[in-house]
Amino acid sequence: MNRDIHIPQSEIDAALYTCEQIRKSFTGERFCFVESYGCQMNDHDAERLTGMLAMMGYTLTDDKSKADFIIFNTCAVREHAEKRVMGNLGALKKLKDEKPELKIGVCGCMMQQKEVSDRVYKRFPFVDMVFGTNELHLFPQMFEKILCGERVKQVRDIAGEIPEGLPAVRKIPFSTNVIVMYGCNNFCTYCIVPYVRGRERAREPQDILRECRELAQAGYREITLIGQNVNSYRADDGSDFSDILAMVNDIDGLERIRFMTSHPKDLSDRLIDAMANLDKVCNHIHLPVQSGSNRILSLMNRKYTREHYLELVHKLRDKVPGVEITTDIIVGFPTETEEDFRDTVSLVEEVGYAAAYTFMYSRRPGTKAAVMDGQVSEDEKKRRLHELNDVCARLLREQNKKYIGTVGEVLTEGVDERQTVMAYGKLPGFKMVYFEGDHELIGQKVKVKIKDAQNNSLIGERIE
Ligand code: SAH
Ligand code: SF4
Ligand code: F3S
Repeated sequence: MNRDIHIPQSEIDAALYTCEQIRKSFTGERFCFVESYGCQMNDHDAERLTGMLAMMGYTLTDDKSKADFIIFNTCAVREHAEKRVMGNLGALKKLKDEKPELKIGVCGCMMQQKEVSDRVYKRFPFVDMVFGTNELHLFPQMFEKILCGERVKQVRDIAGEIPEGLPAVRKIPFSTNVIVMYGCNNFCTYCIVPYVRGRERAREPQDILRECRELAQAGYREITLIGQNVNSYRADDGSDFSDILAMVNDIDGLERIRFMTSHPKDLSDRLIDAMANLDKVCNHIHLPVQSGSNRILSLMNRKYTREHYLELVHKLRDKVPGVEITTDIIVGFPTETEEDFRDTVSLVEEVGYAAAYTFMYSRRPGTKAAVMDGQVSEDEKKRRLHELNDVCARLLREQNKKYIGTVGEVLTEGVDERQTVMAYGKLPGFKMVYFEGDHELIGQKVKVKIKDAQNNSLIGERIE
C-alpha cells in the first residue's frame, strides 16, 4: 500500500484562511444545499465540503429554493447513479433563472472522469464549478473565484495525497464515519472506483486515532471505520486493520465500532479474532460476494472462490457470536448463464445474509468488463434481480423470526413519527429494531426484548 503522503500543511492552511476571508466578505445569512450520491466515502467528502462552507458562514439547508449555493457530490459506480445526477442538474436551470446570483457546483467521482466533467461543463452553462475527487482542499479557492463571477473546472490526475485537517460538519451527533484508507488497488473488472479514487493510501494510525479520540470527546458513541477495503489496510509501521480496531477499542467514551467494506480476499484470522475479542467491535461484517459462480468470480477478478468465501462465513459464525453478514451482489455480469445465476442463488441460501444489496450489472466505460463479449440483456438482468430479491426477502423473514423472544441492546438513532411514535436503532449486529420511545432516547443505549419480526426490521419493547 502506498505510503501516506499528506497534502502539505501550507495548502490546508491556505484553504482554511480562504474560508475565513470569504466569511468576512459578506454580512447576513447564507445557505448551502449539499447533496451526496454513492458510498460512505462520498458522504464523508460531503461532510468536509459542508465543514468548509460552515467556516465560510454558510448554513446547511434542505430546501434548494432557499440556497445561495447548491452542490452535487456525484457517484459513478452505476449508470443509474449518473442519470439521476444529470436529471437533478437539469432541473436546477429554472432555479438559476429565477435567482441569477445562485451558485451551482458539481464534484465527486463522476466528475473525476475527464470526458464526463467536460460534457457536464459544456451541457450545463449555468453550472459555476466542476471538480473531481482530488481537489477537496482546493474548494475554498475555487469557490472564491465563482463568487467573483468566474466559471471554474478543475479535474487533476489523482496525486494520491491525503487531506488531513479539513473541518467536517457531521450529519448525526452520536454516530459517524472515520476514513482509514483511500482508494482501491483491486480493479474488479466491472468497477470504476479504482479509476476515480486512485490507488490505496493508508492514513497513519496516529491520525486515525486522534480523530476518533476527538470524536469520542465530542460525545460520539459509535464510529464506523470506512474505506473501499478496510481489511487491506497496512500502515508504514506494519499495523494492519485489526491493530487499528484494537487501538480504537481502547478509547474511553466510545461504545460501538463498526467498519466497512471488507474484501473477502483479505479477511484474516486476526481480524476475525479481533471481532470476537474486542468488546466494542460490533458483530457485523459487510462482505461483498458479488457472485456465487467461480467462473464469474474469476472473470470479475475478485481473487477468491465460492468455497473460500463459504469457509470464511463458517469461520465467522464459529468465532464471532451472533455475527451478522451483509453483502453486495451483481447479477447479469457479462456471460453470466442461468447456471451461474443459480450458483449465486444457492450461495445466498447457504449464507443467510442479514441484508443483500443487489445490483444489475452496469457497463462502466473504461473498465475491462465493459468490452467483454456476452453482455446480458436488460430484460434478463431484471428477471434475475427480481428473483434474487424474492429469495433474499424470504430468507430474511425466516431469519428475523429467530430473534423473537431474545433480548438485546439498541443504540437509538432516531424517531419515526409516521404511524405511532416509534424510536429505532440497531442491535450490535445489523438488525434495526423499532420500539416505543421518544426523542430523549436518541444517542442512548436501550435494552429491548424482541416481540415481533417484520420483513426488514424487528419490533421490540423496552425493558429495564
Ligand atoms: N469496495 C467495495 C464496494 C464498492 S462499490 C467492495 O469491493 O466490496 C459498491 C458495490 O457496487 C459493489 O460491491 C458492487 O456490488 C456494486 N458495483 C460496482 N460496480 C458495479 C457495476 N459496474 N455494476 C453494478 N454494480 C456495481
Ligand atoms: Fe471496486 Fe473491486 Fe475496488 Fe471494491 S474492491 S472498489 S468492487 S474494484
Ligand atoms: Fe460511487 Fe465514488 Fe463511492 S463511484 S460508490 S461515490 S467511491
